[in-house]
Amino acid sequence: MRLLNRREAIGYAAGFGAAAVLPSAALSGTGRKLEYPELLDATTSRRFQLKAQSGATRFRGSSATETIGYNQGYLGPTIRLLTDADTLAEVQNTLDEPVSSHWHGLLVPGPFDGGPHQAIAPGRSWDPVLNLDQPPATAWYHSHVHGSTARQVMFGLAGVLHVTDGEDDERGLPSTYAVDDLTLVLQDRQFNWRGRMTYDVGMHQSMNGFRGDTMLVNGQAGASAAVPKGVVRCRLVNGSNARIYRLSLADDRPLHLVATDGGFLDRPVALTRMVLAPGERVEVLIDFTDGRDSVLVSDDIANSAMGGMMGSGSGGRFTVLHFAVDTTLPVRIDTLPDAMDGPLPDLSSNDIPVRRLTLEMSMGMGMMMSRSGNQFSINGAPYDQNALNFSTKLNSTERWIVRGDMMMHPFHIHGVRFQVLSDNGRQPRAENRGWKDTVLVAGEVELAITFEKPAPSSAPYMYHCHILEHEDGGMMGQFSVS
Ligand code: C2O
Ligand code: CU
Ligand code: CU
Repeated sequence: MRLLNRREAIGYAAGFGAAAVLPSAALSGTGRKLEYPELLDATTSRRFQLKAQSGATRFRGSSATETIGYNQGYLGPTIRLLTDADTLAEVQNTLDEPVSSHWHGLLVPGPFDGGPHQAIAPGRSWDPVLNLDQPPATAWYHSHVHGSTARQVMFGLAGVLHVTDGEDDERGLPSTYAVDDLTLVLQDRQFNWRGRMTYDVGMHQSMNGFRGDTMLVNGQAGASAAVPKGVVRCRLVNGSNARIYRLSLADDRPLHLVATDGGFLDRPVALTRMVLAPGERVEVLIDFTDGRDSVLVSDDIANSAMGGMMGSGSGGRFTVLHFAVDTTLPVRIDTLPDAMDGPLPDLSSNDIPVRRLTLEMSMGMGMMMSRSGNQFSINGAPYDQNALNFSTKLNSTERWIVRGDMMMHPFHIHGVRFQVLSDNGRQPRAENRGWKDTVLVAGEVELAITFEKPAPSSAPYMYHCHILEHEDGGMMGQFSVS
């Protein structure tokens, strides 16, 4: 038997066991109303509590799945945090394994970041102070214990954060939680015939990342979101382990992009489709003033860098979420805002230091046979929690050139925000033209990164692929900022 070369191995892996998503018909028409996570508004109390706990969740069918969540059985509350303020968090771990709560998208110093170095032992708690001075944004939190992240997030340890300055009314943006300001966590999951969630990471899933056959929004399959007959804000969080969505509305009405990972754009940008990779968030406005229902759909994209972002998978489309206009809901906003924020600062200077990173999935028969171990690396080195990969200067700006391999990798950096300067030598896509902390690398991207918060070598920041099976497999590194 001859060894597969890289290209063949990828084709081989992509060709079998690739779970397809159920056709939309299978998920529609349940008539169940979408529910939203409880809102924990910490803007006045300036404190909140999270408790990692176990639960039993019935997603579909009659059998419940043993799940884990924060303050509930699966997922966690949405936490609203005031910027330019200190908020005290208290995270308790009632599980029998270490967990953490990483604030993905919050610019907080390394010791408060909640990454692998801030794992919380069973029965213990962790009380970071979140001192925010960043623009309003949709961020999220999830467990981040090295080697366990993919499984812990799969079974529920994730939730959403709203960073707010309390001025959305002045901006003309919808802000009534669960009425016209909708928090939507997109996840694909796999269920067995009994309706229990399954997560079997065989060779295929550990290489390509896990993809399930059922779409969940806020942990619910087949639900429909009731919306007022006005303008609705959707905060979309890709909380999937590996699935990349290419989103559009089935009736081709535009998605008006108003914010990316790091906050608002200067003005809304109307797009008919947009890519959302694991870890990324967008805020979009959808205009329902005509009273017509709509359906958010996604193309089923295979993860291959060769066809670029627009390369297709099965060529199929599946339903993400139905929107049903409910005229009894109050309409607060019925026109789109003209502007939300000022233009981005220009970080395209050539004088900033350059750093090159190459994301690599190691291939060959050895890897094909093994189900564990470090199959993934950055610049040839798999993640080592005891080794610092480099250090950067506080308040500096660097240009990182990040190169991928045959797959697309959503590349994320903790504790910073960046702009995408170029994507394969071209202008970045519209959804990548704001402040970001995660970007899909298909080929090569060039980023301008600002290091605004310190991270000592004892509590460094991570950079990694946000396909969680790749991250756990070693496609991660760490750096200090001082
Ligand atoms: Cu969303 Cu390092 O994580
Ligand atoms: Cu993060
Ligand atoms: Cu990856």
